[in-house]
Amino acid sequence: MSLRDDFLAEIEVFLKATGMSATRFGREAVADPRLVFDLRSKGRAPSARLMDQVARFMAERGGTAVPAPAGVGGKGVLLVIGGGIAAYKSLDLIRRLSERGAAVTAVMTDAAQEFVTPLSVGALTASRVFTGLFDRDDEHDVGHIRLARAADVIVVAPATADLLAKMAGGHADDLATAILLAAGAPVLVAPAMNPKMWAHPATRRNVEALRRDGIHFVGPNAGEMAEAGEAGIGRMAEPHEILATAQRLLSPATRLLAGRHVIVTSGPTREPIDPVRYLANRSSGRQGHAIAAAAAAAGARVTLVSGPVALADPPMVTVVHVETARDMLAAVEAALPADVAVMAAAVADWRVAETAAAKIKKGGGAPPTLALSENPDILATIARRKASRPALVVGFAAETDDLIHNARDKLKAKGADWILANDVSAGSGVMGGEENTVHLISRDGVEDWPRLPKTEVAERLVGRIARALAPSGK
Ligand SMILES: Cc1cc2nc3c(=O)[nH]c(=O)nc-3n(C[C@H](O)[C@H](O)[C@H](O)COP(=O)(O)O)c2cc1C
Repeated sequence: MSLRDDFLAEIEVFLKATGMSATRFGREAVADPRLVFDLRSKGRAPSARLMDQVARFMAERGGTAVPAPAGVGGKGVLLVIGGGIAAYKSLDLIRRLSERGAAVTAVMTDAAQEFVTPLSVGALTASRVFTGLFDRDDEHDVGHIRLARAADVIVVAPATADLLAKMAGGHADDLATAILLAAGAPVLVAPAMNPKMWAHPATRRNVEALRRDGIHFVGPNAGEMAEAGEAGIGRMAEPHEILATAQRLLSPATRLLAGRHVIVTSGPTREPIDPVRYLANRSSGRQGHAIAAAAAAAGARVTLVSGPVALADPPMVTVVHVETARDMLAAVEAALPADVAVMAAAVADWRVAETAAAKIKKGGGAPPTLALSENPDILATIARRKASRPALVVGFAAETDDLIHNARDKLKAKGADWILANDVSAGSGVMGGEENTVHLISRDGVEDWPRLPKTEVAERLVGRIARALAPSGK
């Protein structure tokens, strides 16, 4: 059965179940997939499989539009309420989630209970509110792990500066943080705090670490604070914004690469000179790791072949750690077949021709001369494969001058489908930095992307890849 037949069969089951006419379904689906999902979410929640299929079906139609959220209907939402003034807004959030059919379970920190009572929260969730880690009734079966596992999405609102710090540090000294550390589901945090707290270098570090760990953020927004005369960035996102983001996390749009295998290379390579010295480069691996994380979040099976980096392995990704360019190529070839290969690693062009078996000593004589030999070209090798060439081979061109021209040459010379060109000259701050300005070069032309955090570059790239893999895509 083809994907389309399969999809149509599911639609028929759906039509029977809901009594909706095929004409109406067709009209709604083509005009606005959201309506279909809204209608459906009033009944039982659509299966993840149907949602994936709708996503691909729509992508096949060539549009950029992907089906919008199926809603949170039928989903388990674990809401962690932190101790900030914005906690009162979490009551509205519960109401909105429940109205849309989500089963909301609330966990409150001790501080949160100073702002809203478990009684009001429980009245809205229509279930018990969890507050303590060492609860004798719950912990006979390690209830905090059960709560962490039962959720389809975990929302932290408001996320205090303190909760962000604890999450970033991996603390687990109360129920909320223990659950967050054990979480398997996507975690969405809605920070809320005084603008000075938000701007503090400690909070900036924590937020960055959490983003790298794959935590999703909504807000904070700019505006007036509860404290008289204070304004700036720190207001919690509005409940409708939090709801929309949670819906997106649960939607097929975030599973656009379901069923695909994506290989990503990341970081530098290290080419040994002797047992203690090596040649390397300044690549941090941030961009490649972000791409691997974004592809995994989009439902792909991801193999990340990484050179030595100081980053944690992204969640839900198979990571192969390598040192040299030759090891990296071997690991990429071993991971084939794949639908997509994104070569984001900064592979050393040369290695030392003869690695010394023992440490080279500083004698009194002339310094040693290192003879270099050329490393294999991983991008070109994969792009030119006859057998099991990935459908889409994407390379990176890190250039310090004549960026677009050099990237176009690289596209041709290597046989890649796309080159993402980025300026890595000294003043750009790209190498090792958090942001990137990228140009996507294909045979069709050049797309200039704005300066974006590397995580957003990754998300955009994943969206473009999903479109390109659809039969009518580019
Ligand atoms: C009136 C009042 C308002 C507060 N509002 C916030 C806030 O909006 N954001 C925040 O990060 N901390 C706020 N705090 C501080 C937190 O309540 C405090 O850091 C607490 O330890 C957080 O605990 P939790 O992270 O376990 O919920 C506030 C404290 C008080 C007394």
